Amino acid sequence: MIEIIDLHKSFGNNYVLRGVNLTINAGEALAIIGRSGCGKSVLLKHIVGLLMPDSGTVKVEGESISEIEEKDLYRIRRKFGFLFQGAALFDSMTVFENISLPLVENNLGYSKTEIENAVSEKLELVGLPGTQNLKPAELSGGMKKRVGLARALITNPDYILYDEPTTGLDPVMSDAIDELVKELSEKLNVTSIIVTHDMFSVKNTAEKISMMHEGKIYFNGTPQQVLESEDPIIKKFIQRTGF
Ligand SMILES: Nc1ncnc2c1ncn2[C@@H]1O[C@H](COP(=O)(O)OP(=O)(O)OP(=O)(O)O)[C@@H](O)[C@H]1O
Ligand SMILES: [Mg+2]
Repeated sequence: MIEIIDLHKSFGNNYVLRGVNLTINAGEALAIIGRSGCGKSVLLKHIVGLLMPDSGTVKVEGESISEIEEKDLYRIRRKFGFLFQGAALFDSMTVFENISLPLVENNLGYSKTEIENAVSEKLELVGLPGTQNLKPAELSGGMKKRVGLARALITNPDYILYDEPTTGLDPVMSDAIDELVKELSEKLNVTSIIVTHDMFSVKNTAEKISMMHEGKIYFNGTPQQVLESEDPIIKKFIQRTGF
């Protein structure tokens, strides 16, 4: 379970998170929506301790990530897979090196063969078999995204945070990624947090939606409740995204 309690964060005088409260239960598939710049990516980064709050806390399975020692933070981070918005691959590294990085840098004692097999398996899963030796510069935007996804999955995490998993992908590939997100969440009981602008993707993958607005969680509900909401702010958002 992840508990986000009264989370506040400013960058200079840009007051981004203004008291976010949200609980995400184990095994849940939650979509976070909200206008561009409202703080969705900033919120995700707080969940894994890549950003620290000004006040408030994030608790992962009862442990507050802003109050623990560094070694405990690394232990908690290993439970997470993070698909960054824009993939965030290292340009000087091959696809293989990028994907295997979480296994290698954490020094988890895997053999060369185990790592090679794990990378092949995840590349199959994201529909990019045999691309181990390519460099990011040789990949399309959608391929980079899928390599980023393979890297997020490499440690078989309990929690996966997806920051815009389908943005920039064609509809066929978007559907394939949605299927994968759903499969991971349903079959492997992974807890999924999906930040997205793609409302079709939300409908396909999420059981619950939380909408951010003005630095807070403005609405929690099912996709159906969001769709049927008479709230003007939600309606406006939904209309814009063509849901
Ligand atoms: N590291 C940072 N330093 C300073 N400001 C930041 C930093 N990260 C984010 N911000 C600011 O915080 C605000 C929220 O950014 P964030 O990336 O969370 O938006 P978002 O909701 O993910 O938007 P989008 O849908 O466009 O991805 C923006 O005003 C952004 O400029
Ligand atoms: Mg973002």
